[in-house]
Amino acid sequence: MKTHSVALVPGDGIGVAVTEAAWQVLQRAAGQGGFGLDSEIFDWSCDRYLETGRMMPEDGIETLRRFDAILLGAVGWPAKVPDSVSLHGLLLPIRKAFDQYANIRPHRLLPGVEGPLRKEGFDILCIRENTEGEYSGAGGRVHQGTDAEVAVETAIFTRRGVERILRFGFEQARRRRGRLASVTKSNAQKYSMVFWDEVTRELAAEYPDVEVTSYHIDAIAARFVMAPETLDVVVASNLFGDILTDLGAAIQGGLGFAASANINPARTAPSMFEPVHGSAPDIAHLGIANPVAAIWSGAMLLEHLGETEAAERVIAAIERTTAAGIGAVPGRHRTEEITAAVLNALD
Ligand SMILES: NC(=O)c1ccc[n+]([C@@H]2O[C@H](COP(=O)([O-])OP(=O)(O)OC[C@H]3O[C@@H](n4cnc5c(N)ncnc54)[C@H](O)[C@@H]3O)[C@@H](O)[C@H]2O)c1
Repeated sequence: MKTHSVALVPGDGIGVAVTEAAWQVLQRAAGQGGFGLDSEIFDWSCDRYLETGRMMPEDGIETLRRFDAILLGAVGWPAKVPDSVSLHGLLLPIRKAFDQYANIRPHRLLPGVEGPLRKEGFDILCIRENTEGEYSGAGGRVHQGTDAEVAVETAIFTRRGVERILRFGFEQARRRRGRLASVTKSNAQKYSMVFWDEVTRELAAEYPDVEVTSYHIDAIAARFVMAPETLDVVVASNLFGDILTDLGAAIQGGLGFAASANINPARTAPSMFEPVHGSAPDIAHLGIANPVAAIWSGAMLLEHLGETEAAERVIAAIERTTAAGIGAVPGRHRTEEITAAVLNALD
């Protein structure tokens, strides 16, 4: 029997409950699909930081490298550990070390879920560049604290980085409805974004079957609200993708439904799957976290491991659950009720 190994990093707050829920569903799907899932749980979190002074051990990256995939809950507990410490101590080093340059997030309304738009029928796959651009961390400050103070932050766009994320987008568009939206602000940012548009045009020639449209970030933000059904695959830089995917999460009903994957498309290291939401300290001990986003992220993990049929069954089970009104309205059902309903739907 084929067996995949998955590192579980539940993290903080509701990350623990939703990872447990997702793992139960994945194991059930594996049992039904005739393949195995092995796991090891890592308690890397803010609590661990308080005990040991590190979010993960020194050899954490090497430990994770031997797994086929990583399922992560949420990282952060700002009352105890500054977000800059927790994020830079766990999540960001993994994304960087494993070259997970494509951050992908599906945005569509699940049956039974009421989004804020009173609109149905949209199905967007947002692809955010995850390693460079505006978040490269290149910059500095001089004359701090004086009125001559200067802060500079440089966005870095490399041909390798831009080409590979756009190519990933074209490939996804080819597998979906054949439409690609490339997002820039090339009217105002005349170097990096004009370069991005040029690379988009060069690649478009290689994918004549994909219909490409270039949008400015402000225009596509409005389109997400006014006409989301006209979009298919959307590719954006690190900053623009970060903002657009929160808008995407909002129109699909909120953070309880927003799944994501950090993909290393070359498969030279494990990819990481996680709900978009954080540790939700405000509800962490109430047992009402919605596990749908984590379960959906788990389905993306199965898909990435080549277990497409099992992934489709998990998505169908989520849809049957929300269509029955369970997990569709924030706070109405407990985490374990929603998980049990998804497991039942799988059966
Ligand atoms: N990828 C990550 O690990 C990640 C992402 C975002 C935030 N964080 C961290 O999480 C901590 C809390 O951040 P925040 O409060 O800004 O964002 P959050 O996503 O944790 O919570 C925002 C709001 O959404 C609600 N919410 C989130 N997920 C939910 C779910 N599954 N079911 C029901 N309600 C849900 C919360 O109760 C809260 O009201 C911070 O430390 C932050 O840095 C981590």
